[in-house]
Amino acid sequence: MSKAPAANIESHLKENRVFKPAKEFSAKAHIKSLAHYKKLWTESVKQPEKFWKKQAEAELIWQKPFTKVLQWKEPFAKWFTGGKLNVSANCLDRWLDSATANKAALIWEGEPATDGKPGEERVLTYKQLHREVCRFANVLKRNGISKGDRVIIYLPMVPEAAIAMLACTRIGAVHSVVFGGFSAQSVADRIQDCGAKMVITSDGGYRRGAVVPLKKNVDEALKLHDAAGQSLTQTIEKVIVLRRCANEVHMAEHRDVWWHRELDYVSDVCPAEKLDSEAPLFILYTSGSTGKPKGILHSTAGYLLGTKLTSKYVFDLRAEDVYWCTADVGWVTGHSYIVYGPLANGATALMYEGAPNWPEPDRFWRIIQKYGVTILYTAPTAIRAFMKWGDEWPKKHDLSSLRLLGSVGEPINPEAWMWYHNVIGGGRCPIVDTWWQTETGSIMITPLPGATPTKPGTATLPFFGILPEVVDDQGKPVPKNTGGKLVVRQPWPSMLRGIWGDNERYKQTYWTEVKGSYFTGDGCRQDKDGYFWIVGRIDDVLNVAGHRIGTAEVESALVSHPSVAEAAVVGRPDELKGQALVCFVTLKTGVKATPELKNELRNHIGKEIGPVAKPDEVRFAEALPKTRSGKIMRRLLKQIASGMEIKGDTTTLEDISVIAKLASGEE
Ligand code: WTA
Repeated sequence: MSKAPAANIESHLKENRVFKPAKEFSAKAHIKSLAHYKKLWTESVKQPEKFWKKQAEAELIWQKPFTKVLQWKEPFAKWFTGGKLNVSANCLDRWLDSATANKAALIWEGEPATDGKPGEERVLTYKQLHREVCRFANVLKRNGISKGDRVIIYLPMVPEAAIAMLACTRIGAVHSVVFGGFSAQSVADRIQDCGAKMVITSDGGYRRGAVVPLKKNVDEALKLHDAAGQSLTQTIEKVIVLRRCANEVHMAEHRDVWWHRELDYVSDVCPAEKLDSEAPLFILYTSGSTGKPKGILHSTAGYLLGTKLTSKYVFDLRAEDVYWCTADVGWVTGHSYIVYGPLANGATALMYEGAPNWPEPDRFWRIIQKYGVTILYTAPTAIRAFMKWGDEWPKKHDLSSLRLLGSVGEPINPEAWMWYHNVIGGGRCPIVDTWWQTETGSIMITPLPGATPTKPGTATLPFFGILPEVVDDQGKPVPKNTGGKLVVRQPWPSMLRGIWGDNERYKQTYWTEVKGSYFTGDGCRQDKDGYFWIVGRIDDVLNVAGHRIGTAEVESALVSHPSVAEAAVVGRPDELKGQALVCFVTLKTGVKATPELKNELRNHIGKEIGPVAKPDEVRFAEALPKTRSGKIMRRLLKQIASGMEIKGDTTTLEDISVIAKLASGEE
């Protein structure tokens, strides 16, 4: 495996503005000063086991206490061994004897109807959510699911998505949520990879007034075969279907059952299974640099502790907050910061079903005003879209309830940061720019809003117990203000436990690049204050609108089209989405290069992978620039895609005329 050289990571951003937390904010915050943060952080990384032991005892409810804090056999970690606990009990049951029992756990706002009627509204208190989770956990059991079984959840953004996740955790089933925007093929691949026994889906989901036919996609997925004619999904025994849109669906006898009908057969009592600290909790698929998505595996106690602690300190949660994370539950942000982190803290989390610009671009601001949202956690790609739509939309609404803003998913450019700060935050709300990954489970580098002075564009400093460093190719720390690879030096409780079914790939991907450290795949530099500035991924995974997309995955989808000979996919900087996908395609002999075909290819990728991966540009090429060993030279393609001059070494290039043709846009 070739190593990504750290020397290629450049960072040109210079930013001198500093925003100190307001005195009134700090006075009420959990952590009130930078000095206090630094003291606690230093202690936490000097004696990590002592720190995590204390936190695990204080924050989690144990059915049986743990006996050992950490067993570390690089790269495999076991945290809090000997202990038993249950995630749903930590999120729900623990609040039932307190005033929190009748507080809103989830406030759900549906997508407005096409006829202009406002969206539906549902509120579930902790007590109600607990009851629904227990009932649905009994439905799972009734349909043959027990501890350790894998369950695919393919649902729109409705409370039942959270109910299904929590119900799995209640009985120790391992959920794998598949984003509702993914295609039948993606669903089938994930079922096959984790050997899932069940799919939980709905008839459809609303998106900008249209119905997305989720159940139909599942039906299609369950018919797919591999090249050898083997079914991809023969492990599936049952499909549970939620009625959401009342669109027509086919129900297969013996296999498909309705969610609401099943509830008639079950009681609302379901004791929480006592699970080992290291019991697998969920698998979430994310793009890797080779074609196949990686099933990132998280386990019970460590993940719960990480999401609980970070939610509490990073969002500075208070009992009276109305907290809104706008991510989809199909992404890790939705797992950690809509469901598990907030509920484990007894917070009130808002969940919105629809798009930010449906029916009009003020949808988010309307919701904030309606519910008095106090904390908003969203992504730079959304912020850039809001900027483009214009200030008049947020200005129409009273956003004075907001007290804290968050950002996640990609580096936030200073311009977007300032807009977020001024137009949405009214100049008064701290911004927490949180760096983390599907693999890290919870936030790793982040300001603490009452303590850390912020600078637009940096995620600032590490969270408690986290020891990140920027290193060169030999793994040595680089001087301040020098680009390098971002690594984490010590294990932490919410770290991934592996890639499902592929220990070798887990080792290769994360633990061989820099000896003895977890390699994040991100390029980074630290400034004179030690603040971490992420400069993007250094492998071939692109970050398009906050979604990680593996170029290899898109390439293999393209090549699966009968007209395509070869394809190379690269990113070019995009103001709105962070990165835009540009595909260079060579066609099979005799196939005509037409605009219709470009469109067909875009749709083909949409079908194979999902709409998020639809390329922004398809370019036909006579040939692709390759090294003599046959490797496509992406570096050159990237420069061409962004209209730059071709720089650097082209001596290994097989046919130099290819470059001139590609750059001139000749087709
Ligand atoms: C990028 C999302 C800069 C980064 C939680 C990381 C960020 C990848 C930030 C993980 C941030 C996420 N600043 N870059 N605040 N947050 N990233 O797995 O490249 O979908 O490695 O997890 O997104 O994406 P993932």
